[in-house]
Amino acid sequence: MNITKDIQYVGVDDTDIDLFESQYAVPEGVSYNSYLILDDEVAIMDSVDRRRCDAWLARLTDALAGREPHYLVVQHMEPDHGGSIAAAMERWPEMKIVTSVKAAPMLKQFFGAMDFTDRVIAVKEGDTLSLGRHTLQFIMAPMVHWPEVMVTYEQTDKTLFTADGFGTFGALHGNINDLRAWPDEARRYYYNICGKYGQPVQALLKKVGALDVQRICPLHGPVLTEDLGYYIGLYDKWSRYEAESEGVLIAYASIHGNTATAAHALAAMIQQQAEGTEVKLIDLCRTDVSVAVAEAFRMGRMVLAASSYDGGLFTPMYEFLHRIQIKGYKGRRVGLIENGSWAPSAGRVMKEMLAAMKDIDLVEPMVTIRSTMQPTDEPAMKALAEAII
Ligand code: FEO
Repeated sequence: MNITKDIQYVGVDDTDIDLFESQYAVPEGVSYNSYLILDDEVAIMDSVDRRRCDAWLARLTDALAGREPHYLVVQHMEPDHGGSIAAAMERWPEMKIVTSVKAAPMLKQFFGAMDFTDRVIAVKEGDTLSLGRHTLQFIMAPMVHWPEVMVTYEQTDKTLFTADGFGTFGALHGNINDLRAWPDEARRYYYNICGKYGQPVQALLKKVGALDVQRICPLHGPVLTEDLGYYIGLYDKWSRYEAESEGVLIAYASIHGNTATAAHALAAMIQQQAEGTEVKLIDLCRTDVSVAVAEAFRMGRMVLAASSYDGGLFTPMYEFLHRIQIKGYKGRRVGLIENGSWAPSAGRVMKEMLAAMKDIDLVEPMVTIRSTMQPTDEPAMKALAEAII
């Protein structure tokens, strides 16, 4: 599958993976991208998860058409990309690994039985590698998403290989230009995988901003060839933790449905008070947490509605708040609804967890309902609707 005359896509789909990183639902699968640059010397850009090692090696062997690869460029050691490094080294014993100085020690950590003597070229910022007509320029991208990550600019075809950056969930099914995963699955990938690392992403965007980039080749999802400003602009916004919508996310965790009823009532009140405002309801008990995390970052405002549980907070809400906190959630307006039949405790825990996040504007009043929402709760609910918008 040609990207340019000399650059081919040799990645593979994984459509029977249950959970990405053993934690995120990927109903549409995921792709492990890999690229081949055919020149006087031949370079492979990254390997793939060992789950698809055989398919990748077969695809590569076919694309090589009898040639031997000189280099395997390893931009990221995480096993969804680095998992087949040893298998490729065994297949092609003359091939060298080209990777960052920080990644080199990790090779032994992951593949202790492999002999790396004289087979590793460790590169640093700005180093180049000529393949003939093509020259690879290495740009360090620490913490996008691990410390050893680098990206690679191919100077002749002006192609930027971006490791996890600009990746999406979703298999490609042979269509490397299928952009349906953008922006939703790219956003879900970004916030859940790289979300904590906004500053490093900003630093990388500044560095690559000086380059003439004609296409972006990530390690998951489609190759980007047009409107690059749009995709780079979204990455800039996401890594600044800026909202895309001034709408309201109402995220609820309801044990028996009564807290859910209150959440839906609030949504109706917001829409009545501010017609046209985007309001999105998410049932945290029945939605993959990665979707809820991405929506929390997309929206500028959020109301949390949760049941009390064991003297604390119902666990799906606890899990959600923990997730957004570790991903760096900040700078948002947040309202609260708690439910408790005898000693409401959800509000206290939600406040404590929100206090660990930066620049959260907690709006009043917090609404406390007792078992079910009553007509007497309506004034407080309306006040919360007004306050959040
Ligand atoms: Fe797609 Fe950080 O691995």
